[in-house]
Amino acid sequence: MSDPLRILVVASARPNFMKVAPIIRKILARASTLAPGERGIDYKLVHTGQHYDANMSEIFFVELGIARPDFNLDVGSGTQAEQTANVMIRFETLCAEHRPDWVLVVGDVTPTMACTLVCAKLGIRVAHVEAGLRSFDRSMPEEVNRLVTDALADLLLTPSADGDENLRREGVDAGKIVCVGNVMIDSLIANIEAARASIAPDRLGLTKKAFVYVTLHRPCNVDSRVELSAVLTELRRIGSDMPVVFPMHPRTRKMCSQLGLQTEGDHGLRIVDPLGYHDSLCLTEAARFVVTDSGGLQEESTWLRTPCLTLRPNTERPITITLGSNQLTSLARLSADIDALLAKPLRFGTIPPLWDGHAAERIIASLLAAS
Ligand code: UD1
Repeated sequence: MSDPLRILVVASARPNFMKVAPIIRKILARASTLAPGERGIDYKLVHTGQHYDANMSEIFFVELGIARPDFNLDVGSGTQAEQTANVMIRFETLCAEHRPDWVLVVGDVTPTMACTLVCAKLGIRVAHVEAGLRSFDRSMPEEVNRLVTDALADLLLTPSADGDENLRREGVDAGKIVCVGNVMIDSLIANIEAARASIAPDRLGLTKKAFVYVTLHRPCNVDSRVELSAVLTELRRIGSDMPVVFPMHPRTRKMCSQLGLQTEGDHGLRIVDPLGYHDSLCLTEAARFVVTDSGGLQEESTWLRTPCLTLRPNTERPITITLGSNQLTSLARLSADIDALLAKPLRFGTIPPLWDGHAAERIIASLLAAS
């Protein structure tokens, strides 16, 4: 019988944990039912440490029921170059010691790109989960991360057909591309009942379908005084009509504090600490609508069919607009877009193909087939 396939699974930041959890669960379930002659998989989980606060990291391990990482590179925060360099140096040492058959990276955060670069130089194969997404906006660090990761990865596992098209247009060999569906939705489906039991709405004094759920952390919205103070002014205005709950990402909190902007909140705008996964899913389903710049929330609201206004000029997830309940907006258009949205049904849109809770199975099957 052949040796087990040795995989390092990499997770770095908040949205990554929901993407690796179903894959790890599937590897473990497979091990317990392995038929004679079938190849085993031996995985280790690497946390790069990009996110480190308890409510940005630890809470997700508890809620998702995954074991603590086998290795933590503890890179922490820094500039893009610092994060990239620190991950590369530490991950290179780990790979040299461990010599995996594959490294599996997810999403578009900076360590995803840094680990892929290390592997390309060491001759270790990389599988990229969530490959092929493009915003066509290189001012976003994530777009650069996606382009570099996909140019170097050996197996490109896409969440939707637009990802396949983008990769083919860039000249990627079709044999490397597999549309496996959206693994984030595997986690959503596995956790939706626990999310529905969350007491977050009661704790925050919110009534179902009568509040707005906001998450904003992208540099384009929060890294300048002009943008961030305009965002807060607009949220206070919306809050005078319907309560707004805004769990504030540490990046946004740090910018408010540096710029001297008030985060106390008031009657209409409730600014709270970042929420766990179940509370966030619960609010996404219960909200009248969501205002966000997060990729994950665009997908989750599409599956839950909650209207979503994405405060960005573009999205790398166009299927959430063409099929789902998402639309792009801007601060100038937000008020009119909200009025139009309130005239629509409480829930609308359709769930994209392969956003069905079985992406992790297809990811494992693709990895084994490519090995
Ligand atoms: C990163 C990802 C972004 C993703 C987001 C999810 C990149 C380029 N960006 O953005 O794609 O949507 O994670 O949350 O990879 N901080 C803390 N505690 C933490 C982590 C961060 O206080 O546990 C603060 C630090 O001040 C840090 C800042 O947040 O400097 C930004 O963190 P960073 O990891 O650089 O990027 P995010 O904005 O979190």
